[in-house]
Amino acid sequence: MKALVTGGAGFIGSTLVDRLVAEGHSVDVVDDLSTGSLANLADARAAGEHRVSFQRIDIRDGAVAELVQRRRPEVVFHLAAQADVRVSVARPTFDAEVNVLGTINILEGARLAGSRKIVFASSGGTIYGEPEELPVRESHSQRPLSPYGAAKKAVYDYLTVYRELHGLEFTALALANVYGPRQDPFGEAGVVSIFAGKLLGGERCTIFGDGTQTRDFVFVDDVVDAFSRAASRGSGLLMNIGTGRETSVNELYRTMAANAGVVGDPVYAPARPGELARSSLDPGRAAIHLGWKPWTELDQGTSAVLEWMAKTQQAPS
Ligand SMILES: NC(=O)c1ccc[n+]([C@@H]2O[C@H](COP(=O)([O-])OP(=O)(O)OC[C@H]3O[C@@H](n4cnc5c(N)ncnc54)[C@H](O)[C@@H]3O)[C@@H](O)[C@H]2O)c1
Repeated sequence: MKALVTGGAGFIGSTLVDRLVAEGHSVDVVDDLSTGSLANLADARAAGEHRVSFQRIDIRDGAVAELVQRRRPEVVFHLAAQADVRVSVARPTFDAEVNVLGTINILEGARLAGSRKIVFASSGGTIYGEPEELPVRESHSQRPLSPYGAAKKAVYDYLTVYRELHGLEFTALALANVYGPRQDPFGEAGVVSIFAGKLLGGERCTIFGDGTQTRDFVFVDDVVDAFSRAASRGSGLLMNIGTGRETSVNELYRTMAANAGVVGDPVYAPARPGELARSSLDPGRAAIHLGWKPWTELDQGTSAVLEWMAKTQQAPS
């Protein structure tokens, strides 16, 4: 398969590129390196130029549509995004420029290229708003509470329109809280990376609120497995990619502190306004249509992050 991955220098995107290369596909990466980095593509590049190419371009630039058209990918994995909820609240126009208009540029490119399918990284933690029941199913009403969530919701409608108008197939994956190696500890969803950095650096971790708030933490390798499957399955559907399990931030801290050999309590700070109290996604639809289920237990996944972080901190800069 000839694939194109937007946001392929980012945390999830670069892990997906590694997976696609390992499966024998050739991959074009499109990224503006605003939050991603070429270092994330070091392993993939080793496969050679005929297998992996990199194009630095902003998806807001209309020229990206021509670029996609020229590369003629069979499948486009669209992960490039302004991925920070707080930035979307502070700069809603910028958020929509990247996450809505930029996405339309990619859809246009895929249409002009005659691509078979687009697989989109949506967000299960934001499109549903404050869930009425947990774990949330895809049939739940969508009442996003942030411009970021509104943009992810709007893209689903555009995907449906392009399927109807132009026969471009799609799968939208509503991701839970993804964690794993390469996640920027400064990002919005980076609590696992933040804890890993502090635990290894001998600093105390801060928990906002009382720590009973829950999230659905899903490991990045499991997530890219879902993307890979979605290249040929699950067309026309939105599918949750999560574990269906709620983990409190206190439980996350205890698990990671034990693995890092740290004894001691975290610091508690006032809750951040607008944070969801609880979150988890029912992955049943992905099990049926993608044959997907998460494999990685929190204990194993967070250990992998600690190991990666320890190596990164030791590496000469
Ligand atoms: N990490 C999570 O928990 C999570 C949860 C739900 C959805 N998502 C979605 O998954 C996707 C990947 O997220 P991530 O966590 O890997 O974040 P990330 O910031 O590591 O990756 C985003 C990538 O997109 C690139 N990018 C940003 N703006 C761009 C632009 N205008 N033009 C070209 N490239 C641009 C960045 O440089 C980066 O490499 C995003 O669409 C995000 O909204 C992530």
